[in-house]
Amino acid sequence: MYVQILGSAAGGGFPQWNCNCVNCKGLRDGTLRALPRTQSSIALSDDGVHWILCNASPDIRAQLQSFPALQPARALRDTGINAIILLDSQIDHTTGLLSLREGCPHQVWCTDMVHQDLTTGFPVFNMLTHWNGGLDRRRIELEGSFVIDACPNLRFTPLPLRSAAPPYSPHRFDPHPGDNIGLIVEDLNTGGTLFYAPGLGKVDGPLLERMGAADCLLVDGTLWEDDEMQRRGVGTRTGREMGHLAQNGPGGMLEVLDGLSKPRKVLIHINNTNPILDEDSAERAQLIRHGVEVAFDGMSIEL
Ligand code: MLT
Ligand code: MN
Ligand code: ZN
Repeated sequence: MYVQILGSAAGGGFPQWNCNCVNCKGLRDGTLRALPRTQSSIALSDDGVHWILCNASPDIRAQLQSFPALQPARALRDTGINAIILLDSQIDHTTGLLSLREGCPHQVWCTDMVHQDLTTGFPVFNMLTHWNGGLDRRRIELEGSFVIDACPNLRFTPLPLRSAAPPYSPHRFDPHPGDNIGLIVEDLNTGGTLFYAPGLGKVDGPLLERMGAADCLLVDGTLWEDDEMQRRGVGTRTGREMGHLAQNGPGGMLEVLDGLSKPRKVLIHINNTNPILDEDSAERAQLIRHGVEVAFDGMSIEL
């Protein structure tokens, strides 16, 4: 299985357009050793030709341009994207659908809860019906696995996660199973297994077991500290409130990952306030000591 990281930042990207926190300012000034990052999205393939997009970020246009396999140019109008999976209905994971309108219809896989948000609070499914049939919705059931025709060697198993629905969602303070999912993706030829969860608020026993069996984890790296937005003076919301488990501290993501010996461990969906973006930071050094990587745009993983 080919895993291509198209965007490794959380909502807002890095640097965020209106932000002058030490990271965003340092990156602009050239005083910080760090890579710019676009918003959260990956592409998966079993053959390197047919691709499944996981989440559609507002930066999708630049992301498609950065990865030539997604524009194979076999016809006057063409794309390497054969299907789209949405792991939640967050703005940074869904607004890219609007930029894909010229290529409708697209097959879009999502849970009932995500579909509900995307036909009410942010009615992108309704809107796009006016572009050549719009989005061809495929239901992700919360039990069992599914296969997508374009990549028949990949088997997807959704795992309902404890995270949060978007601020605009009627479920924001009334969580439902299926607001957010993680994905186990198995390559039936190579046996390689990926666990992907860019929004992960809590890891319980059964989930930890699934994570421990994977070859590679691509997991929520939003915040270093739960109250990081407050510490940096840019916001009031905690990671817990937003459904993101911070890396540092007791019960944090680092401790969770420390308990797993098999998988390669990669953080993704990094918020621009996170000190791990600074390659010279003590926090980044701590990750390295724990064997944890930080995803970057253009990173490729083969499983
Ligand atoms: C999140 O990951 O919590 C959201 O993308 C935040 C947001 O929409 O700004
Ligand atoms: Mn996000
Ligand atoms: Zn910032």
